[in-house]
Amino acid sequence: MTKALADCGLDPSRVRTEPFGSAGSINPGVIQTDRPAPHTPATPSGVPAGPTVSFARSSITTPWSTSYGTLLDLAEACDVPVKWSCRSGVCHTCESSLLQGQVDYSPEPLDPPQAGNVLICCSQPAADIVLDL
Ligand code: FES
Repeated sequence: MTKALADCGLDPSRVRTEPFGSAGSINPGVIQTDRPAPHTPATPSGVPAGPTVSFARSSITTPWSTSYGTLLDLAEACDVPVKWSCRSGVCHTCESSLLQGQVDYSPEPLDPPQAGNVLICCSQPAADIVLDL
């Protein structure tokens, strides 16, 4: 298309392109093997511990801290394999199974996840929770 536009006399410097196609995997826990093993995070100092968060597949249980902001932030601090894209409750890439407990959302997602699931990029535990991560 760029060549066709130039052949029609359009200044090539005014032609903008954007490639579309498959992107690399956004599930590094499955593809990459050089990731550190999941672990409990360094305990934030001066912040009271909140509800317990368990990442069932990773065998990690750790107390919540508001210093993490979201469950996605906590999962990353634990090197738990996660998927994400928008980090704002829009794309549902981070949607994960909530095996036990309840979460609060901040910000509220554009569309709620399916029943039994949670968007970890914009949620915080409202009680002890178990995630299928
Ligand atoms: S990363 Fe897009 S909704 Fe969570």
